[in-house]
Amino acid sequence: MKPVNVGLLGLGTVGQGVAQILDRNAVEIARRAGRGIRVTRASVRNQGKNLAASLDISTTSDPAELVNDPSIDIICEMMGGEQPALELILKAIENGKHVITANKALIAIHGNVIFEAARKRGVIVAFEPAVAGGIPIIKAIREGLAANRIEWLAGIINGTGNFILSEMASKGRKFSDVLTEAQALGYAEADPEFDVEGIDAAHKLTILASIAFGIPLQFDAVFTEGISKISRKDVAYANELGYVIKHLGVAKSRDDGIELRVHPTLIPSQRLIANVNGVMNAVLVQSDAVGPTMYYGPGAGSEPTGSAVVADIVDVVRAMSADPNQRVPHLAFQFKELSDKPVLPSHEFESAYYLRLEALDQPGVMADVMAIFGELEISIEAILQKEALLDANGVAEQSVPVILLTRRVKEGLIQTAIERISALKSVIDEVVMLRVENLG
Ligand code: HSE
Repeated sequence: MKPVNVGLLGLGTVGQGVAQILDRNAVEIARRAGRGIRVTRASVRNQGKNLAASLDISTTSDPAELVNDPSIDIICEMMGGEQPALELILKAIENGKHVITANKALIAIHGNVIFEAARKRGVIVAFEPAVAGGIPIIKAIREGLAANRIEWLAGIINGTGNFILSEMASKGRKFSDVLTEAQALGYAEADPEFDVEGIDAAHKLTILASIAFGIPLQFDAVFTEGISKISRKDVAYANELGYVIKHLGVAKSRDDGIELRVHPTLIPSQRLIANVNGVMNAVLVQSDAVGPTMYYGPGAGSEPTGSAVVADIVDVVRAMSADPNQRVPHLAFQFKELSDKPVLPSHEFESAYYLRLEALDQPGVMADVMAIFGELEISIEAILQKEALLDANGVAEQSVPVILLTRRVKEGLIQTAIERISALKSVIDEVVMLRVENLG
């Protein structure tokens, strides 16, 4: 059978990984796919020209040439950004080509439109490389867990953020120093705000939640909080209480709706996922039949992400000649079966909470704080009161840090407690609030 021709939109870090893997493992991959697979053309900007020449890949600076080239069967989009990637993908679909994309922002924001166009045209749009790089998490959730009702998932799905928090926890380093190093590692997004403010993780969580619960992609509904406000103090206090702080994407299906949230989270330090450090990613999925399963691996990088692209290419090649109605649906559930279960607003979230306040070192302060929790019927799980810190002259400061862990409660109630505590004259500075997830 004639080999399948692949066109690469972008020959940067991921594109080069794809080209190298397809070349190096050509025989093994053809044995799996049932046909040879070759990269015939690539659109390039600066990088990748030498590699293209050495692998006999013809190059162009105009990506539109590839999506309009009748000899190309599969387009792999690894350019990133919303435009022109969206326009190119829609054109490729219109031209009857199957598409693989590593573009998480594009799927999270425009996926509903892209999948609708693909469904109508009878082509596949695959996106394994868009979430957690080399971890086959889309395949695992969409196919491997197809028997299950998925209850919740929680993931460390941004390597840059995890690297920063790991370094702060293990070496007591400052946020800004570690960010510079993370950028040098080549993991960070073009705009580092996407990593540190949780936007990249929110893109990925949007996709995971859709395939886990069978809901349309709803990026705008994800509650997103980054790690830029995490201080070394909170990392140290969390540690004293037996927790580590991780930046998690959490999706939970409740009877009344779905929680979609990305935020720094205290996790008990003995949990497996609490020990996922550096740039590694991990996704923990709680399902009714199998129970908890966890998926761990590199969340970015040339060949790790290239591995996910090539796995999608093999899947597409196997399914190309199948009846489109018999293919795995893009979002795991049959298109007509997508649910309109609402995404819950943040005041409806349920979690335990870590609160840190700075209270004047005088009698009666704790009683005032506790009275507020008592009135709101919020149970306290643990309290840690530290000695006053010494100022530059060695004199004890007038305030002392007080750290509280609450039991699970609605977020709206915690917000009310924070407002009341902040109004106490004896409490100075902003109250720090972090969510706590047991993940048991
Ligand atoms: N900036 C992303 C990360 C790259 O740090 O995980 C992979 O999506």
